[in-house]
Amino acid sequence: MHNEVQDIDVLVIEADAVRAETVKSALQFLGYRPHQDGHVAPADSGKRDWCAVYIGDVVDLDDFQRQLDTLGEQALHLPLLVAADSPLAAQLPGALPGSRSRPVELISFPLRYEPLMDALRRFAAPSRAAASKSAAGPSALHRLVGASAALGRVNALIRQVAPFDSNVLVLGESGTGKEMVARAIHENSQRRDKPFIAINCGAIPAELLESELFGHEKGAFTGAISSRKGRFELAEGGTLFLDEIGDMSLPMQVKLLRVLQERVFERVGGNRTQRCDVRIIAATHRNLEQAIADGGFREDLYYRLSVFPLEMPPLREHLEDMPELIGEFNQRLLRRGLSGVRFSASAMNALRSHTWPGNVRELCNLVERMAILYPSCEVRASDLPEKYRGIPAGEEVTGAALLALMEGRSPVVAPAMASEATAILPEGGLDLKDHLSDIEVGLIRQALDATGGVVAHAAKLLRMQRTTLVEKLRKYGLQTGLQVP
Ligand SMILES: Nc1ncnc2c1ncn2[C@@H]1O[C@H](COP(=O)(O)OP(=O)(O)OP(=O)(O)O)[C@@H](O)[C@H]1O
Ligand SMILES: [Mg+2]
Repeated sequence: MHNEVQDIDVLVIEADAVRAETVKSALQFLGYRPHQDGHVAPADSGKRDWCAVYIGDVVDLDDFQRQLDTLGEQALHLPLLVAADSPLAAQLPGALPGSRSRPVELISFPLRYEPLMDALRRFAAPSRAAASKSAAGPSALHRLVGASAALGRVNALIRQVAPFDSNVLVLGESGTGKEMVARAIHENSQRRDKPFIAINCGAIPAELLESELFGHEKGAFTGAISSRKGRFELAEGGTLFLDEIGDMSLPMQVKLLRVLQERVFERVGGNRTQRCDVRIIAATHRNLEQAIADGGFREDLYYRLSVFPLEMPPLREHLEDMPELIGEFNQRLLRRGLSGVRFSASAMNALRSHTWPGNVRELCNLVERMAILYPSCEVRASDLPEKYRGIPAGEEVTGAALLALMEGRSPVVAPAMASEATAILPEGGLDLKDHLSDIEVGLIRQALDATGGVVAHAAKLLRMQRTTLVEKLRKYGLQTGLQVP
C-alpha cells in the first residue's frame, strides 16, 4: 500500500544522541522525514512505506532487531544507509536478515549533504521509475477536493492549461494547495507518463542550487567525485516544479531565464550544451510584483513564468469546502491504517470561525491530530485545541470559588454564567442540543480538574447528585481514570 508521504520516511537507528541529531537534521534538510525509535517513531511503523533505514551506532543487538521488526515485511528489503564506522558495517550484509541484493550505502562522518543526497537518490531511482510507469504518484491518491465556486474556478483553469506546454505560476498563501495543483496539471497533461520532479528553491542553499538544477561534471567543485544529473535532466519529457521561486537568488534567476528562453543548459563544470524538453510550473507564496519593485525578482523572468498565473484561494474564502476536505483527510488516514474522526456541529461551527493562517495544510494537520487523540470518535468544540474553540473557554474555577462552594456558600460570580449570558447566536444558527452538551462536557471537565477527579466533590461543585454525574460521565465517555468512591 502506498501512503501519502511515500518515499520520504527514514527510520534512524543511532545510539549516539549527537550523531542522531546530525543525521536527522541532514535528512530533514534534504526533504526527508526522519523518525527515531523512542522519540518520534510512529506507532504505525509497519504500515508506512519507508524509503530507507539509517543504521549507526548499535549498542544492543536485541533492541536493534526489535526496531527492525516493527517495520514488518519491509525490513527484509528496505535500502540501508549504514554509518561507515557502525559495528554492523563490517558484517554487512550477513549481519542483517533479508535479501542480499538490497541496496546498501555506506555513509562517512563528518556527514556531508552531497554524498547523503546521492545515496538517497540512488535508492529512489527504481521506485520513481515504477511510480511513473503505473502513474500512481501521490496525486493519484490525493484528490483535489472542493465544490465551492473558488475551487471550481481552480479546477477549470487546471483543465484548460494542462494540455498545453505553457509555463504556469501558482500563487497563494502557504498551505493552500499549490503543489497539489502543480501535480494535477502534470497528471492531466500529455506528459503524465514522464517524471514530475519538484525542487524547493528556497530550501536549497544558493551555492548548491545550480548543481541541483543543472547537474555537475566530475571534479566541478570540491566533493564532486562523480558526475551527476540535475533536476532538468531528471524531468526530461515531464514537468519540473520550481517551488518557492520567489526565494531564488538573482544570479540563479539569470541562469533559469536562459533555460526558459533557449531551452538549453550546461552542467556545472561541463561545456556540453544540452537541449531540454521540460514544462515549468513555478509557485510562490510571495508577492512577486512587490519583489520586482524591491529589486529582488527579475521582471523578465516573471513574465516568462507567469504566462498562465493561477491564484489559490485561502481556506477562509472557501470554508464551505471544509466538510469535504475533512472527509478527504479521513480517507487518507484510513489508507494509512489509522482511524478517522468526526466533528460535531458545534466543532464545525467553531472551525468555521477560525482564520486559518496555515490554510488547508493546517486543517489537514488538525484532522490528523484529532484522529490520534479521539480515534473514530466525534470531536466536540470543547475537545478542540484552544485556539480553534472560537468562543473563549470559561475561566477555570478558582481556589476561592471552589472553597466557597464546598463550604456551601455561593461564590461571587460563576464565570460560566457570565459567558452564557453573552453567548452569541452564530450567523448560520447552531445545533442547540449539541452546543449545550458541549458546555456541559466543558464544565464537568473543569469541575473534575478542580477537584482532582473526585466525582463526589465535582458533583457538589456542579450541584447535582453524584449518581447523575456518574451517568453523565458514562454518557460522554469521561469516566476513565477518575476516583469514584
Ligand atoms: N483542495 C484540496 N483538496 C485536498 N487536499 C488539499 C487541497 N488543498 C490542499 N490540500 C492538502 O493540503 C496540504 C498542503 O497542500 P500543498 O502542499 O499543495 O500546499 P502549498 O500551497 O504547496 O503549501 P506550502 O506553501 O506550505 O508549500 C497537502 O496535504 C494537500 O494534499
Ligand atoms: Mg508547497
